[in-house]
Amino acid sequence: MSTRHSQSHSHSHSHSHSPKTPTKMLDRALSSRRTQPHSDFDFPATAAPTAVSSDLESSSLLADESKTKKQHLYLLATNYISRLGLVKSPCLCLSLCLLFVLFMLFSLMLNSRSFVCVSSYDPISRASFFGLDGLDSDFGSLGVPWCRSKHGKTVEWTSKDLIKGLEEFVPVYETRPIKNNMYGMGFDHSFGLWFIARWLKPDIMIESGAFKGHSTWVLRQAMPDRPIISLTPRHPEKYLKKGPAYVDGNCTYFAGKDFVDFGSVDWDRVLKNHGISDFSRVLVFFDDHQNELKRLKQALKAGFHHLVFEDNYDTGTGDHYSLRQICDQFYIRGGGHSCFRDSDEARIRSKRKKFWEKAVDIDELCGPHEAWWGVSGEMRDNFNHNKTAISYGEHFQNSRFVESILDVYWELPPAAGPSLTHQTRYDPARAPTPIVEDGRYGLFQRLGLGRLERSVFNGYTQMVYLRISKPES
Ligand SMILES: C[S@@+](CC[C@H](N)C(=O)[O-])C[C@H]1O[C@@H](n2cnc3c(N)ncnc32)[C@H](O)[C@@H]1O
Repeated sequence: MSTRHSQSHSHSHSHSHSPKTPTKMLDRALSSRRTQPHSDFDFPATAAPTAVSSDLESSSLLADESKTKKQHLYLLATNYISRLGLVKSPCLCLSLCLLFVLFMLFSLMLNSRSFVCVSSYDPISRASFFGLDGLDSDFGSLGVPWCRSKHGKTVEWTSKDLIKGLEEFVPVYETRPIKNNMYGMGFDHSFGLWFIARWLKPDIMIESGAFKGHSTWVLRQAMPDRPIISLTPRHPEKYLKKGPAYVDGNCTYFAGKDFVDFGSVDWDRVLKNHGISDFSRVLVFFDDHQNELKRLKQALKAGFHHLVFEDNYDTGTGDHYSLRQICDQFYIRGGGHSCFRDSDEARIRSKRKKFWEKAVDIDELCGPHEAWWGVSGEMRDNFNHNKTAISYGEHFQNSRFVESILDVYWELPPAAGPSLTHQTRYDPARAPTPIVEDGRYGLFQRLGLGRLERSVFNGYTQMVYLRISKPES
């Protein structure tokens, strides 16, 4: 075990105020606010993902000033002409005003992309945006499975908080040391992790799977003064030889020859060494591509409550069994599938596959004996190295176990709709409504999102925040 405190090789930024400034940490993540259950069956009260668009109109940030500004200009100009008294004839004055209105309308059409924001050189997003073949970017149209929690609780933060967070985070993200983080987190998940860590204000943050250190850097931006423990087979400093990487000065690395898997760490001892005894003030972040059921059981056994899983893969995709996959059950809207080729779902999926790289059709979804759960009936683990075929009964029991320990399940929505980000990978039909919805070009620009390269929006895989506790007997 190494407790080396390496020097930071990168930028470090202090952002000490939070989207709100919660005084008490982790409990505040919860509220008894309920959103509408999505269950198609009559099951006990459950929590659905936070509705992210409900509060949009009331935010001052959201008022689309680009339009009101133009209106002001017009009024100013007409007032100015009449005040100058340059035009004596009312007819002439009216014609001039009319001409001016026409001119403003024309320039509005030319300049405002908020009506239709479609890339002129990206045929895929273009076609999908315009709804060719009925393939518009209709979020959630194929259902968005989610995990039911014990008491129907959900998170405390709202869409307004997320928007404020985005506004703060974009300039932070622009200073990231690893500009091209291929195989690591892109913008959406970096924002999600930063937002969650900043909101919860943990005493210590644990990450499993650091790669070059981008996620360590994100955690550091969220909590400048709190220690981090990073478990990752290859030390991020190794990457420094080849290019940008981030090594944190207040991080204990279990890496290289000192690497220990999360499930084998004596967490009581390690956290005691850090002066931590309250496990409810710890945030654990997993980006290690391990079976999430396995990680969940390990985290529960150790006594952790707050978990974030970076890659919450949809059914039929990914290299490990995920929460989203586990909770994909018939009693959840969008959950449970049929391998019947002549079904509506099969038809829709095969169309969508042509437009979205990560969309899967029924052939990919279904394995031997029409097994659709997990990935073709398999529970995958460790970057696809382990593939265990499981029965539907086992899969169902896994979801019941998850439900028995779950206090909160919250999937991060995509930062913005595909007509704005031009992402071409995840299928909106299986994703929650984005924070900045399609068509809100003014807001997208005002938040600074338009300054980011398109590629950073291509890595969305439904990052999830969980709060867990031991099953109630
Ligand atoms: C997708 S990368 C992590 C990306 C990183 N979080 C980021 O945002 O840039 C997955 C990492 O998990 C590491 N890994 C593999 N097995 C692991 C394990 N058992 N425990 C922790 N990390 C593991 C890999 O070496 C790799 O660095």
